Amino acid sequence: MNILGISAFYHDSAACLVQDGTIIAAAQEERFTRKKHDFNFPHHAISFCLNQGGIKASDIDYVAFYDKPFIKFERILETYLAYAPIGIRSFIKAIPMWIKQKLFMKEFIKKELGFDGVILFPEHHESHAASAFFPSPFQRAAFLTMDGVGEWATTSYGVGNANGVQLLAEIHFPHSLGLLYSAFTYYTGFKVNSGEYRI
Ligand SMILES: [Fe+2]
Repeated sequence: MNILGISAFYHDSAACLVQDGTIIAAAQEERFTRKKHDFNFPHHAISFCLNQGGIKASDIDYVAFYDKPFIKFERILETYLAYAPIGIRSFIKAIPMWIKQKLFMKEFIKKELGFDGVILFPEHHESHAASAFFPSPFQRAAFLTMDGVGEWATTSYGVGNANGVQLLAEIHFPHSLGLLYSAFTYYTGFKVNSGEYRI
């Protein structure tokens, strides 16, 4: 069973290959392109992972993308609308990429990979929880996830059990510890989604 995980088009694009429940390879695109926080489709990272696993795209059983683009798009539209006309410049900058790539992610991934199988879109916080719980030594554990924002969730908790994670409760955008952190990053003159690590 070959599962390829992909994150792309936000920041720090990356790929990961899991074979029969074992992580075989994981890599960030920036390591190959030498472009800090590279957010483009992770062609290089994917090739690296497939090479490490000794497989081709046609051997992949499932591709998993790290969030649900349509729900995220709904949140972005609602937010722009709530604050309009403030944010119009950022809106004009962001929308073409959404229409060109993010909303048609399934078709985009199929085309880019030459893959015709199943593509899964777990919720963003499910992905965070899974990335921590599944490689952990625990069969059952509580998890707490706090980030900037996924689709709507900014903080969530739940239970990981054997091969599943269950979200029990979440706090929604705009109430976000991560975005508050980013606001301070911006205020102190650093770049958002980058300078947080320095601060
Ligand atoms: Fe996140």
